[in-house]
Amino acid sequence: MNPRTLLILGGYGNTGRLLAQLLLQETDVRLVLAGRTVEKADSAAAEFNSQFDGERVSAGYADAADVASLEQAFDGVDMVIVASSTAKYAREVATASLSAGIDYLDIQYSTEKIAVLQSMSAEIERASRCFITEGGFHPGLPAALVRYVAPHFDRLDRAIVGSVIKLDWSSYEMVNATAREFLEEIDDFATLLFKDGRWQKARFLGMLDTISMDFGGEFGRQYCVPMFLEEMRAIPEMYPTLQETGFYIAGFNWFVDWLVFPVAAIASKVWPERALEPLSRLMVWGLNTFSKPPYGALLKVEAAGEKAGQPHTLDVTLYHPDGYTFTAIPVVACMLQYLDGSIRQPGLWTQANLVEPNRLMHDMQRMGVEVAET
Ligand SMILES: NC(=O)c1ccc[n+]([C@@H]2O[C@H](COP(=O)([O-])OP(=O)(O)OC[C@H]3O[C@@H](n4cnc5c(N)ncnc54)[C@H](OP(=O)(O)O)[C@@H]3O)[C@@H](O)[C@H]2O)c1
Repeated sequence: MNPRTLLILGGYGNTGRLLAQLLLQETDVRLVLAGRTVEKADSAAAEFNSQFDGERVSAGYADAADVASLEQAFDGVDMVIVASSTAKYAREVATASLSAGIDYLDIQYSTEKIAVLQSMSAEIERASRCFITEGGFHPGLPAALVRYVAPHFDRLDRAIVGSVIKLDWSSYEMVNATAREFLEEIDDFATLLFKDGRWQKARFLGMLDTISMDFGGEFGRQYCVPMFLEEMRAIPEMYPTLQETGFYIAGFNWFVDWLVFPVAAIASKVWPERALEPLSRLMVWGLNTFSKPPYGALLKVEAAGEKAGQPHTLDVTLYHPDGYTFTAIPVVACMLQYLDGSIRQPGLWTQANLVEPNRLMHDMQRMGVEVAET
């Protein structure tokens, strides 16, 4: 079979570039880097073609808001990887993918996007297309981590996943659209957790349901708030003995957590349109100014239950020094399974529930993720 051609929407952004780099390194795919700024796409494509043999990368124009431009860009492509901050255009991108007859993967966290894709799921299945949503680190890995530890138990009672992302934000350029989307998502996330065998709404925006998780080493103990991820919804159905599960996230820094986010929560209700722009600028300034080392991204599952008639626990911690690279690695590990056909099936799937978790862990380790099990 000829090498497949993948179009990365946002292919010259922070995550898009790292995805391109790893895909060129790990597979024989050809890439189209696309977005609204063709000069940036051109120069990123030229850079990759000088690094990798075979002129495998080209550049293209596509605006996620404009279905016609997407359809034109998707001509001759086998799949789109949506690495752009365009969750609000999920319907446009999904519609263009279906009409061009190509598969789809996105890495965005967005309740609205999930609802749009779910409303199109019958159409996706009828068209025999494979749509993978919520790829990346989180979303993308937490439910896969629970699926990874579950076979080590005869009965799984508890599986809590926590995450810390500490980035040197000042070394990244975040486009305005990404900053706005980031703030909207933080403002919008559902604080659901599964406790005493049922899904419950966390109290007072999760502030009364924080947990303290020990991430070890220089990161130590961190307070984390519950954040509902769509991929976790299937977990209690998969493991019916579970009494407690959920995903929790640690803060960024004091300024952003305790000033920007609470102000944004109120302002977005009072002045939804006017507040977003200045607050997203304040958030970027706060991230750049107050984020301090140690830097790195960690994801940890703490699991407890029974094995061979005895109480049993297993903690698994994943670590990478760079949060953006740790977003790209799981996507490429998932793509390795997709490209060899082992997980490609028609329908709408979350990355975390579609992948085979043992191979995923093995491939992520090979690509630089450190795994510690205790
Ligand atoms: N799942 C995870 O673990 C995870 C982790 C990190 C980030 N993310 C998500 O990944 C996405 C990208 O984040 P990032 O930090 O890499 O962003 P970034 O560096 O700011 O890049 C965003 C890219 O999207 C493109 N873009 C924006 N609006 C567009 C439009 N209307 N049409 C086409 N392209 C458009 C931009 O190019 P132009 O402006 O030139 O068009 C740029 O290439 C965000 O949605 C973020 O939430 C997910």
